[in-house]
Amino acid sequence: MTKSIHIAIIYNEPTIETDTGRQFAFDAGVSHPHSGVWVSAARADGKIDLSEVGVIEEKEDIQSALRALGYETSIFNMSDDLDRFLGYLKAMQPDVIFNMVESLGDYAIHEMHVAGVYELLGLAYTGSGPLTLGTCLNKARTKEILIQNGIPTAKFMLVDSANELTADTLKLSFPIIIKPSAEDASVGIDNNSIVNSFAELQDRVSFITKKFQEPALVEEYIEGRELNVAIIGNDPPLVLPISEIDFSGLPSGYPKIVTYDAKWMDGTKEFEGTKGICPSVLPADVEKEVKSIALRAYNLMECRDYARVDIRLSKTMKPYVLEVNPNPDLSDDAGYHRSAKAAGYSYPEAIGKIVGFAVERYKQKRM
Ligand SMILES: Nc1ncnc2c1ncn2[C@@H]1O[C@H](COP(=O)(O)OP(=O)(O)O)[C@@H](O)[C@H]1O
Ligand SMILES: [Mg+2]
Repeated sequence: MTKSIHIAIIYNEPTIETDTGRQFAFDAGVSHPHSGVWVSAARADGKIDLSEVGVIEEKEDIQSALRALGYETSIFNMSDDLDRFLGYLKAMQPDVIFNMVESLGDYAIHEMHVAGVYELLGLAYTGSGPLTLGTCLNKARTKEILIQNGIPTAKFMLVDSANELTADTLKLSFPIIIKPSAEDASVGIDNNSIVNSFAELQDRVSFITKKFQEPALVEEYIEGRELNVAIIGNDPPLVLPISEIDFSGLPSGYPKIVTYDAKWMDGTKEFEGTKGICPSVLPADVEKEVKSIALRAYNLMECRDYARVDIRLSKTMKPYVLEVNPNPDLSDDAGYHRSAKAAGYSYPEAIGKIVGFAVERYKQKRM
């Protein structure tokens, strides 16, 4: 009898700031009302920061799916401990890794280094390789690559400090949106992110560079619809039905963007007012162009197995790529799965397809 394939789901639990210093989300916990999972980030006003619970729910969803598919599975939390991680890989020798590590010691850049460890050890793992993970985290670098290859993306500047901005050197038109240059998941995006004057721009750049200790990405604001394009596979990759963020539930006057609260803070007006819908209803030619641009971005960034390309349409329906997300959130209620569902995949089917690519690589290594 052939031995069943052992898949290790590896993640690194995020830490959060608490009154007594940084703690792992799980340790600092309160029970999450929807899932019963322990989360840390309930605020005094009772609103709950779902970004902290995301990975915890996600790995359990994935484990159930993998078990249903007949794989032997284990879950390993790196807990920011490199020695334990290396010890685990040596001791357990998993056949395939379901890679869900997004950072180490709160440094998102270590996402690429962890994938580098799998490479060095010759382990098969799901999702993109180190170069893609590192480059896509650097939004400005990604945009340079896109522009070089004729893929439309909003005009931008990378600004180290507000002092270096002058009305003369500013080559962008208002409105402008300011983001941290190397964060994910709408971190640093709120209702004050869009500015309409040079004075506001300087204030916001100063706020972002101080808060995140990284350059600010200053971009022309694309006013229009927002689309998420999920892509699966490699030879060839397949574009799934396009998902759209419906901003119509936002109170009037709120900017139509996916702020941190819209994405994660259950109980806020932003969270309640932004809904993902799939499939998005688009004119046929626009849909075709959006899919083709997303696919080119996926190939250009050398994404593997699965990724999500975020796009905004201008008022005239011209698509602009905002960013490319390798290894996007796979939880049952996230955007990627909305598209997979619309394509007819059940949750275990989608997870099974993704892990299947890594299983194939594992088998090829053994041949
Ligand atoms: N140039 C832009 N024009 C319009 N909206 C933008 C632009 N850049 C970002 N946004 C808004 O901010 C959100 C987060 O930006 P994004 O670049 O996708 O970063 P991340 O999702 O990694 O935080 C987007 O989903 C979108 O709503
Ligand atoms: Mg995004």
